[in-house]
Amino acid sequence: MAIIIKNGEEIDGMRIACRLAGEVLDYVAPFVKPGVTTDELDRLCHDYMVDVQGCVPAPLNYAPPGYPPYPKSICASVNHQVCHGVPNNRPLKKGDIVNLDITTIKDGWHGDTSRMFVVGEASILAKRLCLITFECLLLGIAQVRPGGRLGDIGAAIQRHAERNGFSVVREFCGHGIGRSFHEEPQVLHYGKAGTGPELQPGMVFTIEPMINAGKAAISELPDGWTIVTKDRGLSAQWEHTVAVTATGVEVLTLSAAAPPMPKFA
Ligand code: MF3
Ligand code: CO
Ligand code: CO
Repeated sequence: MAIIIKNGEEIDGMRIACRLAGEVLDYVAPFVKPGVTTDELDRLCHDYMVDVQGCVPAPLNYAPPGYPPYPKSICASVNHQVCHGVPNNRPLKKGDIVNLDITTIKDGWHGDTSRMFVVGEASILAKRLCLITFECLLLGIAQVRPGGRLGDIGAAIQRHAERNGFSVVREFCGHGIGRSFHEEPQVLHYGKAGTGPELQPGMVFTIEPMINAGKAAISELPDGWTIVTKDRGLSAQWEHTVAVTATGVEVLTLSAAAPPMPKFA
């Protein structure tokens, strides 16, 4: 399977699905407070996607080969959970950090984005991890332009994470996205600049670095989905869906309350 190039009309469809995914995060942000459960956040997001936006939540019953059907409508990964955290009935407490990952389907197109939220007030380390991981995403996005190489993205992310004493999760990566949730290419968050496929206008993929405060190693919980750090250190992740344009990059999952992009991205 090759990398699918989207035409203008197809990018228009992606733009809508992606903006809606960002808007789910804008909507749920004020509810991320001490005492709320991730089940409650899942329900709020599910109802917003279905009843307000007319979207399908892509995670619900998603079952790639080798995985049980995903039981919820969003992913909520708390503290040492790296990604694919399954919402549950445990209340969030002051000092937790949580990634909420939203994937909408609108008119057959997928939009995929995630952000970190700090519950109340977090430790200096937790806040620094969230900030450096956001910067990793921005530096990755800043590499995207026609004629660039896929490896440029991972190299920029890895350099920034490791310069700051953090580590990059290797087992999960960004991905092409469109009519399917996960398409080619795999977008690694580490690697060597100048390597990999050449970026072309019309490519659409996610960049979603998972950065650990401790070691990079991960393990999977018995639920078959939730990924945690092996050393139980903190992990953070931010995700945008981007399109390669004729002149550079368009971030498709921006929304009114998304943290702003600096000029260099
Ligand atoms: N949204 C995740 C990603 O960024 C994938 C989640 S799969 C799920 O690729 F089934 F856990 F939702
Ligand atoms: Co993704
Ligand atoms: Co995602």
